[in-house]
Amino acid sequence: MKFVYDRVAFLYDEVCAVYSLGAIARSKRHHLGFLRVGSRVLYVGVGRGADALAAARAGAQVTAVDLSEPMLRRLRAAAIREGLCLELVEDDVSQLPCPGDYDVVVANYFLNMFSESDAQSMLGALLVQVRPGGRLCLADFAPAAGLGLSGVATTAYYRLVNGVGWLLGICALHEIPDLPKWLTDRGLEILDIKRFPVMGGSGPAYWAMIARRPRVGLP
Ligand SMILES: C[S@@+](CC[C@H](N)C(=O)[O-])C[C@H]1O[C@@H](n2cnc3c(N)ncnc32)[C@H](O)[C@@H]1O
Repeated sequence: MKFVYDRVAFLYDEVCAVYSLGAIARSKRHHLGFLRVGSRVLYVGVGRGADALAAARAGAQVTAVDLSEPMLRRLRAAAIREGLCLELVEDDVSQLPCPGDYDVVVANYFLNMFSESDAQSMLGALLVQVRPGGRLCLADFAPAAGLGLSGVATTAYYRLVNGVGWLLGICALHEIPDLPKWLTDRGLEILDIKRFPVMGGSGPAYWAMIARRPRVGLP
């Protein structure tokens, strides 16, 4: 999977902007309103990192991890152009030293790469990086908001995007996970969820959510 991301790094954000009509980029900015100046924020699978750059611009202390050197090279170049300071780590997120003590961990369009069981394991690896009481922020594909036409349109859109991604080798084939349930099942509290429709209304959409890790006990 890593090598595919290496090859698509130069056009990854642009392709996402086209097939989501900008909804992916909007959803990735959702968490920025919840960051504080000086917060320690970890971006996992950061890609080209427009979100991580925006957080650094807003005064967060950013660490960004990705397996793909070409993705990180582009992020580093953008940071240098703007005079921003981010810590960039080329590594597998699940291999980071733990427990981490980040105030916020951001996983935008990260869990959707994996099969359900791998994504659940990866979620566990992300949670140990969040300090007790800290936040986990996710943006990803949203399930249909209703039945009927909206449900059919969401399923058709998602199957197409997921199927093409699978053929390219950048993600596993799977259904849209119920991420809020995954988080609450592990004892997190959902503080905010927002939908970002592709074309307005209740059709295909992305969503972004903020969850709080409990102060005691790790899920
Ligand atoms: C679907 S892209 C999303 C990138 C970015 N978060 C965004 O929203 O544009 C997933 C990214 O995760 C990286 N990645 C995949 N597996 C990883 C892992 N185990 N550890 C760290 N990064 C990983 C890939 O190289 C890729 O850049």
